[in-house]
Formats: sequence, structure tokens, C-alpha cells
Amino acid sequence: MVRGEPGHVAAARESDVIESALAEDGGRAPRPADLRRIGIDPDFWYPVAASASVPRNKVVAASFAGRRMAVFRTATGTVAALEDRCAHRQVPLSMGVVDGETLRCCYHAWAYRGNGHISQIPYLTRETARPPRGVRAYPTREAGGLVFVFPGDPARAAATPMPDFPRVRAGTHRVMRYSRTVRCHYSFMHENLLDMNHQFLHRGVLGKIRPDLLGYESGPGFVEARYRFTPGGGRKDRGAGLLSAEGFGGSSSPDVLTIRTGYPYQTLELVPDGETEPAFSLWVAYVPVDAAQRTCHVHGMLMIRKPRFAAALTLAWPFIRRFTERVFAEDRMAVEAEQRAWDEQGEDRNHEIFPLILDLREMLRSSGVPLDPAAAVCADAGSCGVAMPS
Ligand code: FES
Ligand SMILES: [Fe+2]
Repeated sequence: MVRGEPGHVAAARESDVIESALAEDGGRAPRPADLRRIGIDPDFWYPVAASASVPRNKVVAASFAGRRMAVFRTATGTVAALEDRCAHRQVPLSMGVVDGETLRCCYHAWAYRGNGHISQIPYLTRETARPPRGVRAYPTREAGGLVFVFPGDPARAAATPMPDFPRVRAGTHRVMRYSRTVRCHYSFMHENLLDMNHQFLHRGVLGKIRPDLLGYESGPGFVEARYRFTPGGGRKDRGAGLLSAEGFGGSSSPDVLTIRTGYPYQTLELVPDGETEPAFSLWVAYVPVDAAQRTCHVHGMLMIRKPRFAAALTLAWPFIRRFTERVFAEDRMAVEAEQRAWDEQGEDRNHEIFPLILDLREMLRSSGVPLDPAAAVCADAGSCGVAMPS
């Protein structure tokens, strides 16, 4: 379904119409679920660590929506993710040590295989009571230098597509990685990137810039928008020029950016005029950390096409890094402020008007799952920490 031609305003969905009706009827109309109380669907593959942060014989702590995990790589290189609680006395397994193909708890040295089963209890005798079987193991895979886990129904893991990074595999692009914790619900991040009308926020970095929505499409599980960026003068960060169409090729044509939320991930691509391959593309996942899902961890990969003279990209690298970090810092300031407002008001009182974002909100709502009520209660009490038990 193609929607959102310039000036198109008919894309608001039923629930958003209800939202506006609500104000007029004093709150008697049915209210759509508050998007910030919708949990992300666990039946997808989510990155929880960089592969490089889990070398052989190492274990790290990770988290998905309040479920703590111990991610470890065995001596032969296999990665596994276990519930981060020893079956014996609930001590985090991420405090343990890798021993060959097992993870050994730091306390009484019970050893676990990658499938969560206990392989050894050093002091077990014939007279000892029957020990537990083990702990939950999450299906685990690696791609693009990230460790992904499947936190949902394990029976669905094999049939659920993994993100694929062909440009990284082909070696045609160089990758800049991002790993940051942002204190907001993941939906604020999707809205931030898809709503390019916020370039005023970046005026100090990008100069004056006019984003024009060329059109967008939405459907089950996705929203995709195309914008043209026309520079309007003003000083901009040097890294911005290096990443735009003028970049290495020196083209002066306006940039056309395609931004897509393909649930639960998001991508952004810039394809220069007359070309088919993007000059750069961004892939990003916002992984809820706490059970109330008011904090997310951003795992991002900016893939920049290698120019004919590879040294040019090496020279540009620090400028591109500085530029993207500046933009990210400004976005983070805004989305964390949005989350604080939600926390203060206890509900979503946004008055969104952009049809594209109204569609996105509806899609995120219908793709998600209800938050664990215990998490919601805890969140209302304002007492949830990152490591809240699930
Ligand atoms: S708590 Fe893990 S072995 Fe005892
Ligand atoms: Fe931004």
C-alpha cells in the first residue's frame, strides 16, 4: 500500500482518530493501548553483545527486557547464552568462568553446557539428592559481528529470519559500530529516526537543511519512508559533508534517504543520484534492557562504501565518527526527555500529527506484546532498575 504522497493527510489510523476523539468526548471513547506500555515481541533475533566482546573462554552479562543472560564463548569458539542464575543458589553465571566447553559457576563450581544442562557438580556423590537439570538456554547465532539471541519461543527460532549483512560479508563496505544505552522506550527511537522533520535539533551539526517527504509505504511489520534533503546553507560538521552525496564523489545533487522500520529493526540508506548501491547504510536494533522497557540498548552498524582510494575513507573516519556521535548525542537528549515526560505524566500525552509517524505507532503497537504486568507495576512505582528480575 503506497501512502503519504506529499500533502497526503489521510493516513491516520482508526486508533489515532479515536485518540483525537478522546479529547473531544471527555475520555469516554475507547482508548488505544499506550505504545510506551507495549513490550517488544520476543519472537525475533536480538543482538545482545558484540562478538568481539566475547572472545574464547570469556563470559559477559547481557539483558533482554529484564531477563538477565550469561553469554559465553567456549574454548572451541561456540557461543551460548544461558539464563544468568545458577540453578544451585541463583548466583549469576556471568560471574563464572569458562572451562573448556562449559561455563562453571563461580561459587560451588557447577558446570553448564551451552544447552543449559548441568554437566558436572564436583562434589556430587551417590547419596546426594537428585540435582536440577539445569537452566534455560537461549538459541544463539552470530552475524555482522554481533551475538544474537532468540528470547521468545525457542520452537520458532529456526524459522525466524536472522538479520543479514551481505555488504559486510562482501567486504565492499567498512563498518562503524555503535553500542549505547539510551534511557527510553524503544518506540521513541523508531519515531526519532523516521521523523526527519526534527533536523532543527541538528542545526549546529548539519546547518540548515530541508527534508521533504517524497512518499512512504506501510504494511504489516514495516513502515518505509523516502526523504530528499536539500541543503539550505549554514555551517555544517565536516563529517556531514563526507557522508552526504557530495562526499567522496563530489556530487552536488540532493541526498535521497530511505528509512525503514522492518520490525523490530531499523535501517537508513543513502543512494546517490543515478546509482543503485547505497553510499552508506545504517542498520540498528533497539533492545529493551529492563522489564519495564524504559531503557534500551542501541546496537548500530554504519556501513560505508569503500571509495576507489581506500586511504580517503581512513582519513575521513574520525570526522565521520565525530559527526555521527554529535548527531546521536542530540537525538539521545531529545528521546530521553520524551521518556522523562512520560514518566512524569504516567501516560503518553503526545499530540503527534505526522501521518507517517501515526502509521509507525500503529504498526509498533500491533507488532508488540503486552508488558509483563509485574513490570508495569514496578515501573509505576519508579523503582525498576536495569537488573530487575523477570
Ligand atoms: S551457586 Fe552456583 S554452584 Fe553454587
Ligand atoms: Fe536525529
